[in-house]
Amino acid sequence: MVHYIGTERLRELVSRVGCGRFIEELAAEIAADYQRWNEFEKSARLASHSTVGVIELMPTTDGKLYSFKYVNGHPKNTAQGLLTVTAFGVLADVSTGYPLLLSEMTFVTALRTAAICALAARHMARAGSRSMALIGNGAQSEFQAIAFHQLLGIRELRLYDTDSRATAKLIRNLARLQLQDLTVIRCGSTAEAVCGADIVTTVTADKCNATVLTPEMIEPGMHINGVGGDCPGKTELHGDILLRPDARIVVEYEPQARVEGEIQQLNGAGRVTELAQVLLGKQSARATELEVTIFDSVGFALTDFSSLRYLHRLNSEQPDGGQRIDLIPEPDDPKDLFAGLTPQTSRLRRRRTA
Ligand SMILES: NC(=O)c1ccc[n+]([C@@H]2O[C@H](COP(=O)([O-])OP(=O)(O)OC[C@H]3O[C@@H](n4cnc5c(N)ncnc54)[C@H](O)[C@@H]3O)[C@@H](O)[C@H]2O)c1
Repeated sequence: MVHYIGTERLRELVSRVGCGRFIEELAAEIAADYQRWNEFEKSARLASHSTVGVIELMPTTDGKLYSFKYVNGHPKNTAQGLLTVTAFGVLADVSTGYPLLLSEMTFVTALRTAAICALAARHMARAGSRSMALIGNGAQSEFQAIAFHQLLGIRELRLYDTDSRATAKLIRNLARLQLQDLTVIRCGSTAEAVCGADIVTTVTADKCNATVLTPEMIEPGMHINGVGGDCPGKTELHGDILLRPDARIVVEYEPQARVEGEIQQLNGAGRVTELAQVLLGKQSARATELEVTIFDSVGFALTDFSSLRYLHRLNSEQPDGGQRIDLIPEPDDPKDLFAGLTPQTSRLRRRRTA
């Protein structure tokens, strides 16, 4: 029987730990796996593009466990009352190939993206960063706000979204959370939100080469946490920001980021550093207080692997042990799969009626 975590179970698990602590523990799990970077089989994700969005498969393994995530990105979905990003994933045992866990990953994607962004910012933003502009106040935004409050010590959030209802929703949700010492400022434009911020997070959704941030908005020493540019033809930063001589760019996995990230605009040129090298202490992400650092996040399979393993452990540790589903047949004789299709001989059926 395969463990199953649906959206309701995920909500329970997060509320038992608390959202901030959950993200912090996830960030530690992710950091530990990025330290083992060379042990993982890595590949750019398999993406199927359409005119309105993308559906992607994201696999990886360390030789012991295997994981994949199914995820979509459809920026126009919200107009129909649907989420822009949904996901689910599987963790499997390499020694048998059997799945161990089938899990929802829509919430998990938001949690793990916030975790890795905050983790990267810990190494990239100036020490003592306290204010963050948050551009794009949709589904991912609360998670980014919580992660940066919890892991970085952000105490001022400057919000802007082209949809004022999204900003109102974010303000409402943040007020309910009562995060310690947090000041939330609603701004009238991206430029107003960005002005004077230590960190700028862009987490917008639009299937185009947008210029959410333009060169004159960028101040020396800023850290840019670019989350929404994650597909070919879908970016958020004006290309000149990437070409600044004082810019340092960090990505999750370079072969994938070259195709999907902001750096697709560099057409293969320019130096970028992989986050693993920073976490391993082999490269530094910031040399001076004046450099502009850019985390060009697109989302990488290893982050999902860490999340699924963390969830599997957390779920199994609960007193109830979690729900299991009959995803895989369990015939008495593994060579007699056919018997499982016959109600009289189905082991599952016999158990239920026992
Ligand atoms: N890097 C990663 O690992 C990762 C993970 C998850 C999601 N994402 C990406 O993050 C983005 C946000 O996802 P979401 O689920 O929050 O989407 P969402 O549709 O819920 O929210 C996006 C928000 O951006 C706003 N917006 C669009 N263009 C804007 C602009 N020019 N200026 C200001 N606001 C603007 C929209 O009004 C909307 O409120 C998506 O592009 C998604 O693909 C990346």
